[in-house]
Amino acid sequence: MLRYFTAGESHGEALVAFLSGVPAGLKVDQAFLDRELWRRQQGYGRGGRMKIERDTAHILSGVRHGVTIGSPISILLENKDWKNWQESLPVEEGDPTKHKRVASPRPGHADLAGALKYNFPEARYVLERASARESAARVAIGGLAKLLLRALGIEVLSHVTSVGTASIANKEIPWDEIATLRNREEGLLNCADAGAEQRMKEEVDHALKTGDSVGGVFEVVAHNVPPGLGTYAQWDERLDALLAAAVMSLQAVKAVEIGAGITAAASPGSAVHDEIGYKKTESFAGFTRRRNNAGGIEGGVSNGEDIRVRGYLKPISTLRRPLESVDFATREPVKAAYERSDVCVVPAAGVAAEAMVALTLARCVLEKFGGDSIGETLRNFSGYLDQLRQY
Ligand SMILES: Cc1cc2nc3c(=O)[nH]c(=O)nc-3n(C[C@H](O)[C@H](O)[C@H](O)COP(=O)(O)O)c2cc1C
Repeated sequence: MLRYFTAGESHGEALVAFLSGVPAGLKVDQAFLDRELWRRQQGYGRGGRMKIERDTAHILSGVRHGVTIGSPISILLENKDWKNWQESLPVEEGDPTKHKRVASPRPGHADLAGALKYNFPEARYVLERASARESAARVAIGGLAKLLLRALGIEVLSHVTSVGTASIANKEIPWDEIATLRNREEGLLNCADAGAEQRMKEEVDHALKTGDSVGGVFEVVAHNVPPGLGTYAQWDERLDALLAAAVMSLQAVKAVEIGAGITAAASPGSAVHDEIGYKKTESFAGFTRRRNNAGGIEGGVSNGEDIRVRGYLKPISTLRRPLESVDFATREPVKAAYERSDVCVVPAAGVAAEAMVALTLARCVLEKFGGDSIGETLRNFSGYLDQLRQY
């Protein structure tokens, strides 16, 4: 069973990610993992932190001689900013006069809820773990999940469909166009429509100028996924439910949509459901669709079409022109604390969501095909593909 979790504070020494259950013999492409981390750090509207961090995945265990060995994998991501925080956030007691308090909770952050829950007098420790710096650790292990999926011919990527009010509307971007975005050297807003991307940039510029922030929507697409991952048999094994939880678990994601879920709710059934055709030479088993409003999932099971999952991000909570708050110590009204911040993170959130989708699909793949070695997994997979072809 594929299991994973992460540890680490935003301004601590490092983040650590653990991934257990990867079959032995999977070739690990270090450059690919680092490129994934680089992609998460891109995007127009990022703050100063991204100029400090240059993430690399330092693999500590579970990989030897360039391949996985079936043992738990741990990956360390150094926080370059740690050198500036060693006195204010030490592991040992340290000098309390050097600690950096978060004196007033920032609306939209975990600050107040976390301080009340853990009985902290201020929000430093809350911020440290609730921060989306943690998503870098997910991207590192998500990269390994992508390598596993790639061995089966499955690819996972994302693109941005809106920032603030600028959007590509309901245009469906074909897989090939999404795939070309991956090779861009300059991230901008990871949008496949140049006109919309320019309008998105203007939205970010406006937020930068006014001390405000913007949210938006990304879409993760998983390509070449065979039918049969997930099941309707039990509520917590439905692929749509698993993907929704995985993507919703990312910081600032406030809604998740599968396929055309949101517009579908206001449309007649005839305009929504994807009619079925048949052409022996096409798809996994010859069944075809003219459109993919279902986003590749029906009844909680992948149906062989591209899986499309959208994540809706609220605008960034930290504002250069802060909102009203209350001082933790005095309870007097004050402006919320400000700490260096991004203004727009939609492309980066999309990359982090790719990792969550890849980890979820990898878990489903391993549940269906099993295998302690990648050879065994691929043999079982290939037998299933034969079954589909002969259906
Ligand atoms: C990649 C990424 C980067 C983020 N960077 C920031 C940031 O610089 N400043 C900020 O206030 N929020 C940032 N956020 C969002 C917060 O982490 C998030 O809103 C906050 O932790 C509260 O959690 P919630 O929005 O899920 O309720 C980022 C989110 C993501 C996905």
